[in-house]
Amino acid sequence: MAEKIVAEQKTQDIPMPEPRRSVAFIGSECYPFVKTGGLGDVMYALPKALIAQNCDVKVILPRYRCIPQKFQDKMIYRGEFWMDLFADGRRFYVGIMEYVWDGVVYDFIDNEEFFSSGNPYTNLVDDMPKYSFFSKAALAALNYMNWIPDIIHCHDWQAALVPIYLRTQFAGTPIAGAKTILTIHNLRFQGIYWLPTVQYWTGLPGEVFTIDVMKQSYADANMLKGGLAYADMITTVSETYAGEIQTPFYGDGLDSHLRHHAWKLRGIVNGIDCRQWDSSSDEKLPAVYDCSNVIEKKKENKLALQRALGLREDENLFVIGLISRLTDQKGLDLVNSILPAVIDGNTQVVVLGTGDVQYENAFRYYEDAYRGSVCSCIMYDEARAHMIYGGSDALLVPSLFEPCGLTQLIAMHYGTVPVVRETGGLKDTVQPYNQFTNEGNGFTFDRYEAGLLLDAINRAKTLYFTERGRWDEMVRRDMEKDVSWDQSAERYRQLYLELKP
Ligand code: ADP
Ligand code: GLC
Repeated sequence: MAEKIVAEQKTQDIPMPEPRRSVAFIGSECYPFVKTGGLGDVMYALPKALIAQNCDVKVILPRYRCIPQKFQDKMIYRGEFWMDLFADGRRFYVGIMEYVWDGVVYDFIDNEEFFSSGNPYTNLVDDMPKYSFFSKAALAALNYMNWIPDIIHCHDWQAALVPIYLRTQFAGTPIAGAKTILTIHNLRFQGIYWLPTVQYWTGLPGEVFTIDVMKQSYADANMLKGGLAYADMITTVSETYAGEIQTPFYGDGLDSHLRHHAWKLRGIVNGIDCRQWDSSSDEKLPAVYDCSNVIEKKKENKLALQRALGLREDENLFVIGLISRLTDQKGLDLVNSILPAVIDGNTQVVVLGTGDVQYENAFRYYEDAYRGSVCSCIMYDEARAHMIYGGSDALLVPSLFEPCGLTQLIAMHYGTVPVVRETGGLKDTVQPYNQFTNEGNGFTFDRYEAGLLLDAINRAKTLYFTERGRWDEMVRRDMEKDVSWDQSAERYRQLYLELKP
């Protein structure tokens, strides 16, 4: 009898297994197929982290022609159908090509007319119909494959029409049972164009072109705005940014819309894939390292970086990296105005990025003016990025706004100390160094002013040149900091369970 009671108690103690959730990710880029920035990293890493937490994940992407042939060759044909899109009822081919890799199923939506330009993004007149097609075709493909997920997780404006199509043209079809989450990675891009044209491109009914959904102003419609209204839940990529975008400065015209929907808005900070970014096995690094030998090995990586880039070879110099899209978002006007004051004979600056021509040219100018101390790599190059993360002492991220930012996370994971502005995810992930308690992960400044950036860089240099022991402790502390997806993937999973108990 006593034994039976004990046995019953034990069964009661065992927690019920949580139900397995299935999720379809819909977005416009995903490493290693196509990546222009952090969205591509998240679309790669978060599904993997969710699979490790007992979720089923399918990732739906456009089959751009620019996806490297080695991946195209491995795709398997899953089917095809025709779908109407524009208001005139014209029909378009939708092919589904599948690629299963490392537990994740990738389904590529195929259509030559929309996806054959060299770059994923070109201009709004091409991109808005392209991503209307993609959003609708993704839902139609899920119905076609009879894969009905619990959650449809959409990313940025390119997939923002998914929740609207789901609740209008797809109402009453199997896929309509799914709940939707729309994640804002960058509010700067919204998909805004003349309303009658958007109405034609999307074929959506008049009821969604009202001021509380897609209508932006007298003349324009806004795809992201509509998606935010129709999504069951909105997330963005850090808690601070979730608050910032409800203010006029960071809200990019949608702050009042976001305040209205604040009850369903959450901030969940990004992580990085620690297998993709692993300094102890990184084949792109001249010398691999971990926390135990980072100080010595970083010197080797620094010398190799200097050699590769034609900089003066000296392991005692302070090397500052900057890896970034060269756009207004990233605080490059601050960098440009203080660069001459940073170069003092003991400091080198390495820039890797492409983007707006005025920044590209400014950095080219500085490379020329400070040969041997400044190197500007105006290109997109994954291998070089790894070398810079591994061989620099510090990494600059002085952004005007930064939803999350991944470069500061990668930098810390590689023992490279970030120098950042306290905004968005930078504020949430980099704890400022405190010289009294000897705590913190990097150097920070608050107002968007060049003098404050220079001051932060100088504080970093002072610690590096005068208290190297403390600097080295920070390097090790940064490498040990948890920047993985584990905790944040768990938060997304809880959100999925909340939406589909
Ligand atoms: P954003 O998405 O705003 O561009 P993030 O910091 O979130 O900024 O992500 C940037 C990603 O793109 C990082 O993985 C970074 O290493 C990578 N990256 C940016 N510019 C380049 C470049 N020129 N070459 C290689 N990788 C780059
Ligand atoms: C955007 C943001 C960046 C963020 C990335 C991934 O591109 O600019 O801050 O890290 O998306 O979420």
